[in-house]
Amino acid sequence: MIQDIQKEILRLKKENDICILAHSYVAHEILEIADFTGDSYALSVKAKSAPQKTVLMVGVRFMAETVKILSPEKTVLLSHPEAGCPMAEQMDKNLIEAVKKEYPDYTVVAYINTTAALKTVCDVCVTSSSAVKIVKQIENKNILFIPDCNLGAYVRELVPEKNFKLLQGGCPVHASVNESEAVAAKQKYPNAKLLVHPECTPDVVKYADYVGSTSGIMDYVMQSDCDEFIIGTELSIAEHLQYACPDKTFHFLSQKLICPNMKKSTLMDVYNAVRGKSVCEIDLDSDTIAKARRCIDEMIRLGG
Ligand code: 13P
Ligand code: SF4
Repeated sequence: MIQDIQKEILRLKKENDICILAHSYVAHEILEIADFTGDSYALSVKAKSAPQKTVLMVGVRFMAETVKILSPEKTVLLSHPEAGCPMAEQMDKNLIEAVKKEYPDYTVVAYINTTAALKTVCDVCVTSSSAVKIVKQIENKNILFIPDCNLGAYVRELVPEKNFKLLQGGCPVHASVNESEAVAAKQKYPNAKLLVHPECTPDVVKYADYVGSTSGIMDYVMQSDCDEFIIGTELSIAEHLQYACPDKTFHFLSQKLICPNMKKSTLMDVYNAVRGKSVCEIDLDSDTIAKARRCIDEMIRLGG
């Protein structure tokens, strides 16, 4: 049954000239029929070069908005109308404009998990895989990093030559893991490597053997000689890795690492989108696109 729907999706996406991009947090049966899968950075770069007229983003809204900003001529669809990222909604344009007045000589570095409207008042975007590289290259010493204070603290640690101002935002899913869970997991599985997303708190990150984006964690496992891992990001990553590496063993850092928004999109939503039913099209005005694009172009220039 799943295979029949997958076959039909593959046929319809070709017939209707649709490119499917899927973030690594979505279900395995969706990754199997996507044109590209990966972390936020890889997807935003891939979307730009996709030849199809329509792009379907299976992930959350800020990811689909990023595709629209980079390819305004394309029709961009989001797999589920309510798939948002709570972190992206935590800070709005008015708040950041007010903070900028307090810190006028700071470069505003926005995690890509922000709305298109907020990106219009920022200087450069970063993703979890590109943040350190990009921040190092910024000429200004003063960095206002928004909205994720945990990713910001991780970058600050690795770029000590800069002066950081962090605001109190973050991912409710990753920030829910606490230090005692990290200690307990390491004690329970002493031979396993602990791999953690930088959206986790510094109290958890300090125990990690590797810190990286979703793709970074997957690449680490596939290249590692080690055969046992504790996965410190969304639980789906352990599932995808188990398919890719059946002989390796995976443990969850915490059962709380489930992103409800990434779980909203199902294979049936993808099927409905490619056959033109229940379509959620991303619509951004040209002024927002032009202003938000500057900081995404800057991210690709510095992160490439
Ligand atoms: P990545 O950049 O690692 O894909 O992370 C996106 C995200 O939302 C993690 O919670
Ligand atoms: Fe947003 Fe966190 Fe979900 Fe990633 S895991 S999409 S940051 S809520």
